[in-house]
Amino acid sequence: MLDLIYSLLFILPAYVANSAPVLFSGKTPIDFNKKFFDGQPIFGKGKTWLGLFGGFFSGLLVSILQAKLLINSEFDLFASNIFIYLNLGFLLSTGTLIGDLAGSFIKRRLKIKRGKPSFLLDQLSFLVFALLFAYHGGFRYIFSIENILFLFSLTYIVHRLANSFAYSIKLKKVPW
Ligand code: CTP
Ligand code: MG
Repeated sequence: MLDLIYSLLFILPAYVANSAPVLFSGKTPIDFNKKFFDGQPIFGKGKTWLGLFGGFFSGLLVSILQAKLLINSEFDLFASNIFIYLNLGFLLSTGTLIGDLAGSFIKRRLKIKRGKPSFLLDQLSFLVFALLFAYHGGFRYIFSIENILFLFSLTYIVHRLANSFAYSIKLKKVPW
């Protein structure tokens, strides 16, 4: 049980970095409306610079808040070291936003229009990249099979619920 709470605390900056862009949703698309060789947008109008930076800094902010709240508590993840929290926040946020872009890149290659759903890509591409970045950055010990399976199932469910909620309060135009 404790393990699951730690996994959740561990991944939280990624969740926030992934959900925050919709609150910022800027105007200038990251791909500047350029098309790829296949004539489709590179990422599409759903990926903006403001969303990218908003998401990144929101994720980083979560790791700062975590350090502030968790250090010296029984849920301290990293031996009271704020820099380890920041390092993880940086890796998870970067991974999340690159993963989200990669997801849209693949969707456009599959000719799925911006905002249309893609099973698994929408929910999990950010998680795959966030975890790869964290793993590569040295946060290996969290990567047990149980934790990974837990994070993938949890993320899938949380993402779907969060998007239905964002849709119900009219933050998003579609419930996925
Ligand atoms: N968003 C943004 N910048 C980002 C990511 C998201 O501005 N880097 C905003 C956009 O307004 C986007 C909304 O958040 O429409 C929801 O994000 P998401 O579901 O990831 O984008 P989609 O519009 O569904 O586009 P895609 O089909 O490429 O996933
Ligand atoms: Mg979407």
